[in-house]
Amino acid sequence: MRILICGGAGFIGSHFTRIRLREHGDRVTVLDKLTYAGREENLRDLAGDPAFNFIHAAIEDAEAVHAAIESAGAEAIVNFAAETHVDRSISSSQDFVATNIVGTSVLLDAALAHKLRYVQVSTDEVYGSIEQGTFTEDSPLAPSSPYSASKAAADLLVQSYACTHGLSASIARGSNNYGPYQYPEKLIPLMVLNAMHGQRLPVYGDGLQVRNWIHVTDFARAIACVLMEGAPGEVYNAGGPDECPNIQVVRRIIELTGAGEDLIEHVRDRPGHDRRYSLSSGRVKELGWEPQVRFAEGIAETVGWYRDNEWWWQPIRSGEYLDYYERQYGSALR
Ligand code: NAD
Ligand code: DAU
Repeated sequence: MRILICGGAGFIGSHFTRIRLREHGDRVTVLDKLTYAGREENLRDLAGDPAFNFIHAAIEDAEAVHAAIESAGAEAIVNFAAETHVDRSISSSQDFVATNIVGTSVLLDAALAHKLRYVQVSTDEVYGSIEQGTFTEDSPLAPSSPYSASKAAADLLVQSYACTHGLSASIARGSNNYGPYQYPEKLIPLMVLNAMHGQRLPVYGDGLQVRNWIHVTDFARAIACVLMEGAPGEVYNAGGPDECPNIQVVRRIIELTGAGEDLIEHVRDRPGHDRRYSLSSGRVKELGWEPQVRFAEGIAETVGWYRDNEWWWQPIRSGEYLDYYERQYGSALR
């Protein structure tokens, strides 16, 4: 298949790109704006592959998107491109609206004009928080943060194009991903790198918020299933096999890195913090998907990857990230 992967230089998109090239023999064009979170280093091992091409552009740039579709000879678009960090969306929502909503509408128009298959990569956060039980695809949308509200808006647009225009568009909603190449503003890589450096570990509130962890390769394979087998207009949840409160995740990282428990610092809670996420994945399992990686094994492998790949994280920890870190945590950790 010839695929245009938008946001393919980010965390999940880079894994999906690698899997499609290596395991499916696809021809892949990645279109990415290379924001602070997007890095060509994430695709370093694919550079030079004749089946791989990279275009530096934004999804909200309609001309660039049309040109990319034509040069790729694309049969499908898979859209990972987004502003993705909840804390940044609380500081300012404008980039979230521009990329996650306006950008998605540009891609949908382009997919329609070129009669392409379309997959939108979305999140369990569109359902909001659930104290008990688990969300299905029929659960109502109740986003809490500007990030999740922008993702929910995009999902509604996707469904409207399937319904109104007959676009062959499906949505894959994942739970919390973890694994190699995740930008260290997110819980797991932040805690791993801080623990490795003997820096304090900022746990929001009581740390008893629960996340439903999915290894990034499992989510990438669920998205591949949705691309190939998903029905137009349908949503497919892909939740990981394990749930865990944040404080236990942090304690496990402390064990794996050999750091001390005294590094834990309970800081001010995130405003509007969702208490628990949980996704049921029955519909995508009917397409033949099963998660392969349990959290116990995946977290150990992930800590090992960060330990062994300083070339990847060292430039981040000395750049824009430092300013962000100071804005987000400065006074709390001083
Ligand atoms: P990420 O922040 O690591 O990467 C996002 C990528 O999108 C980056 O490469 C960035 O440069 C690119 N991008 C941002 N704005 C763009 C624009 N306007 N035009 C083109 N490219 C742009 O994100 P991620 O964690 O890999 O998430 C990918 C997708 O999966 C997102 O849509 C996110 O909402 C969704 N998702 C993430 C998780 C998770 O736990 N990380 C879980 C479920 C769903
Ligand atoms: O659930 C899927 C979502 O998972 C994705 O849609 C988002 O793009 C992704 O960022 C992620 O959102 P979360 O807000 O759940 O992830 P984050 O890594 O920011 O936080 C995970 C939990 O850890 C959350 O309860 C907040 C807490 N946390 C996070 C950070 C960064 C802390 O306690 N301390 C921290 O420093």
